[in-house]
Amino acid sequence: MWQASSAESDGLVAAGGVPQATAPGEGAATTGSPRPSVSPAIHTLGLHKRYRRTVAVKSLSVSVGRGEIFGFLGPNGAGKTTVIKMLLGLVKPTAGEAMVLGAPVGDRRTRRRIGYLPEMFRFQPWLTAAEVLRLHCRLLELPRPSWEQSISESLETVGLAERAGDRVAGFSKGMQQRLGLGVALLGGPALVFLDEPTSALDPVGRHHVRQITRDLRERGVTVFLNTHLLAEAEQLCDRVAVLDKGAVVASGSLSELLGRHSRVRLKLSAAPAGWTTGLSAFGAWRTEGEWTTVEGVDPDAIADLVNLIVAGGGRVEAVIPEHQNLEERFLELLQEK
Ligand SMILES: Nc1ncnc2c1ncn2[C@@H]1O[C@H](COP(=O)(O)OP(=O)(O)OP(=O)(O)O)[C@@H](O)[C@H]1O
Ligand SMILES: [Mg+2]
Repeated sequence: MWQASSAESDGLVAAGGVPQATAPGEGAATTGSPRPSVSPAIHTLGLHKRYRRTVAVKSLSVSVGRGEIFGFLGPNGAGKTTVIKMLLGLVKPTAGEAMVLGAPVGDRRTRRRIGYLPEMFRFQPWLTAAEVLRLHCRLLELPRPSWEQSISESLETVGLAERAGDRVAGFSKGMQQRLGLGVALLGGPALVFLDEPTSALDPVGRHHVRQITRDLRERGVTVFLNTHLLAEAEQLCDRVAVLDKGAVVASGSLSELLGRHSRVRLKLSAAPAGWTTGLSAFGAWRTEGEWTTVEGVDPDAIADLVNLIVAGGGRVEAVIPEHQNLEERFLELLQEK
């Protein structure tokens, strides 16, 4: 199982089961033939960052498989951006190690295969969108004959093709964020870091960015997504890690994170005497009006719960199983801490 951990939470490091997904330039994803196992897109061991008295990231150990959309969730100041900056070689870790696309962090050749949309950035307002992209083609050292095609593809992808010749100074926040995403996608990266990619976007823009992110996964690109938008993580991410005060408090697939935390709501038209006595064995329960809610019930045990009531002579009018959503689980995890 894929996991992220903080040494201070459970000391676990997991790197098993590296999916043999394919990143651009690393073989076709559709051949069905056996492919050589590849290193994870990201692997960190005890990655730690301290700023004077502030520990921004506490001994983070995480593996992200190739072709995964990995979500990093956490409240303001949790350390999400610091992790990305360390993985890009922009911030020096105080301790620990990190490998990205099979190379140590900061490796120059590898950096060309990484796209990055920072959470806060400003492009030169006097440049046009196409000029910004051209500048980044140069910084990326892309072969010059490919520039114009890369630029038009990028503008097309982020929905700015018609604004190619307009200056950044006249762009709205959302348009600048789209341009930032366009820069991150230049040159067909194998790994893309998106730090709050939809913070300035309207609902249509958010939907569009989600679609772009899914398309990246289709092409075998790994996406590391920092987000506050839990619905976004729920819709997009294969796995998530929840970070709080620099430490991972939970990680796994959404079903792993939420699966065990389901509840059932019951409405009885006839309740057997003392029927609630047996409820505690299924989970914590409470009654509100006609409804009884059992929290944390194993979904497989709901039938047994109903049987117990019926066997006692009760009649069950309604059974509504509910899964905890990510927001509820997120808040619960932060409170447990
Ligand atoms: N350059 C810096 N100097 C000092 N402290 C810093 C620096 N960068 C980050 N920090 C501190 O590290 C901690 C983590 O910050 P970080 O920006 O990584 O959080 P975040 O999870 O990205 O938050 P947000 O959701 O608000 O973007 C915070 O306490 C922050 O004040
Ligand atoms: Mg941040």
